[in-house]
Amino acid sequence: MLVLGIETSCDETGIALYDTEKGLIGHTLHSQVDLHEAYGGVVPELASRDHIRLIVPLLENLLSKTKTPKDRIDAIAYTQGPGLSGALLVGSAMAEALAFSLEIPTIPIHHLEGHLLAPLMEKNPPAFPFLALLVSGGHTQIIHVKKVGVYEIIGDTLDDAAGEAFDKTAQLLGLGYPGGLALSLLAEKGHHHFDLPRPLLHSGDLNFSFSGLKTAVLNLVRAQTLLTDHIKADIACSFQLAITEVLTKKCLMALDQTHLTSLVVSGGVGANKQLRQSLQENLSQKNYSVFFPRLEFCTDNGAMIAFAGAMRLDNSLKHDLSFKVKPRWQLA
Ligand code: KG4
Ligand code: ZN
Repeated sequence: MLVLGIETSCDETGIALYDTEKGLIGHTLHSQVDLHEAYGGVVPELASRDHIRLIVPLLENLLSKTKTPKDRIDAIAYTQGPGLSGALLVGSAMAEALAFSLEIPTIPIHHLEGHLLAPLMEKNPPAFPFLALLVSGGHTQIIHVKKVGVYEIIGDTLDDAAGEAFDKTAQLLGLGYPGGLALSLLAEKGHHHFDLPRPLLHSGDLNFSFSGLKTAVLNLVRAQTLLTDHIKADIACSFQLAITEVLTKKCLMALDQTHLTSLVVSGGVGANKQLRQSLQENLSQKNYSVFFPRLEFCTDNGAMIAFAGAMRLDNSLKHDLSFKVKPRWQLA
């Protein structure tokens, strides 16, 4: 079965084709980062307009690149939520209209489920059940994944998400938006010179809180008489170490508590090199395994939506000419 996947929940237009027998056939992505950078964050109206501008050319490009006639597509998966309403409506309308014209079903997908299952597209994926660390711009969750569609959130952030903390810290250091990658590159040039808080490290539960860490960075920045490149690199390094330590410790705790042995890491912050290293080192010491998606599938993309659709073909809906998006939608 060939599934077309469409992702438009935020600032990336992603389209992909996933074959249940052959795997990923192809994918294409347009990032709107340049469009929103000047505003220091995503402007919803601009995001929707850009999705509208590019969704058809991107789809046509992917179909011609992969030599796939439209009538070979068996089902269309699309991100129904959570995300920006206007942006979600572009992908949903496109998916539903195309499915209607081709007389094929649609599969509405939860964006976070896409992230969660993305590592399973790689070779030698873990078997269910497993633990997942979902670290994106909007979420920091530890999830007990029992099987496709059965998710228990056992740890969550009380305030800022990990990606948000990276982005806000990056902004304080003048690194632009979104700053996660830039901050991690700067951190490589610095040293662990500043002692920053490890929020909730010893709370005994699996929850996170990163707003205090961001405030500590703000105070640190303000305390510098001269914020040299050298000091910025040291702050970036110290911040990254603090956040990595908390994420690693809580994942280890969650594995111990649930008696699960595999951890899957997904979401944009899952691309972070130091986090990957720290999880790999610390988990292997306790004979736990860790699985990551390839870097390009950590951040938003269409492939994870096409793949989630392929895993959920049983849930496909026959078209009834009505559809809705779910800008707020709990994963559990
Ligand atoms: O999953 P994602 O693409 O979008 C959401 O669904 O939120 O995640 C985006 C987040 C941003 O906060 C970005 O700064 C962060 O992931 N990010 C990183 C890295 N690459 C992306 N954070 C730390 N290190 C990275 N290498
Ligand atoms: Zn995402």
